Amino acid sequence: MKKINSKKGWRFRNNEKKYLNKILKSDFSAGSDNYMSEKFETLFAKKHNQKFAISSNSGTSTLHQALHSFGVGHGDEVIIPALTVGMCGFVVWQCGAVPVYADVDSETFLIDPNDIKKKITNKTKAIMVVHLYGLMCDMDKIIKIAKRYNLKVLEDCAQCFLAYDNKKRISGTIGHVGSWSLESSKHISSSEGGVLTTNNKLLAYKMRKFGGLGFTNITANSGKVRIDKNKFQNPNWKRHNEFGYNYRMSELCAAVALAQTEKLEFFVKKRKNSGNQFIKVINESKSNILIPQKVPKDYIHSYYTFAALFNGKSRGVRWSDFRKKFLNFGGDGIYSAWQTVNNEPCFYKARKKGLYSGSMKISNSYGWGETPVAVKLQKNIMQFTTNQKNSNEIKKQILALKKTIEYYQ
Ligand SMILES: Cc1ncc(COP(=O)(O)O)c(C=O)c1O
Repeated sequence: MKKINSKKGWRFRNNEKKYLNKILKSDFSAGSDNYMSEKFETLFAKKHNQKFAISSNSGTSTLHQALHSFGVGHGDEVIIPALTVGMCGFVVWQCGAVPVYADVDSETFLIDPNDIKKKITNKTKAIMVVHLYGLMCDMDKIIKIAKRYNLKVLEDCAQCFLAYDNKKRISGTIGHVGSWSLESSKHISSSEGGVLTTNNKLLAYKMRKFGGLGFTNITANSGKVRIDKNKFQNPNWKRHNEFGYNYRMSELCAAVALAQTEKLEFFVKKRKNSGNQFIKVINESKSNILIPQKVPKDYIHSYYTFAALFNGKSRGVRWSDFRKKFLNFGGDGIYSAWQTVNNEPCFYKARKKGLYSGSMKISNSYGWGETPVAVKLQKNIMQFTTNQKNSNEIKKQILALKKTIEYYQ
């Protein structure tokens, strides 16, 4: 039998296996379904001081569930940052609505409230903010705008667990809904998975119902469908009183998600430690070849990744050369930013044709230069990994960066 690489899997070595065994032994809890997901939801809600948490099969599904609960539909517009993953745009399209791209701040890389204001029309229904790389957006300004125009606010925290703003508020708890991804690269993971939180019972009900196939007996608190066999096993029982998707988290994923949530603070602390060490080595180098994502005063970054603006062009150093050098010095990789959503081919082509969601016509009034800051940043961002197993692994990355900076000094 092939030997298991002991360096791998360190994130999943505690209750993950115990809970997985439990759920496998239970034949997937037939008759008492959602056992692990309920436990996971209860713990996740508690750690965020929220009344409701709803587990889901991905951090894309969660965004779709949230927009649906806001009533986003055909012809509506949702403002999203241009600098984010395509999934933020996909879910708007999945609602039959149109993503309208707001530019980002050149220093924090986060959605710019001033540009949000400029992009609001009478079709705008919601603002999706993305706490990119683990840093929270300026929620005070965003909530103020949302209140003024009666818009819903969705906080995409896929990359942001237990970050704080300058008022000590936890990421994901300020807008109407918070949304997280538990995909494998995230602070905590169940391979694939997602979770939503809210304090609003109606939104919780709508999100759970939409992701739970519209089963009649779903409530804001519970996705259980097999509640009362005598009532259920009856030819007259009507199962679905609404349309929906099957976005439910599997019990296997929920078993892992529960164990991971138990150690959430541990994983976040580890990434914060890595992020802070990257900053330290850059500050000590006195070089400006990398300019770290700016953390506003009294904000606490959760460092899903350490992101910096590459500033080597002026001295003739290419992005790809810097990356190669970093790898040569033992670095484990530098990731580039995704295309801005408006420049991903599917969104670009839809906009160019003036068509969206099938035959829906869209206005082209925003033109193409509407997010110049995001477009420029995208080409120059470097993302460094922060998910090292231990201090030796972190040291290796920091040393590689130190040597790379010195090489180009
Ligand atoms: C900012 C952001 N939003 C949404 C998603 C989508 O999450 P998932 O991959 O779980 O569908 C991701 C994941 O990569 C993300 O980084």
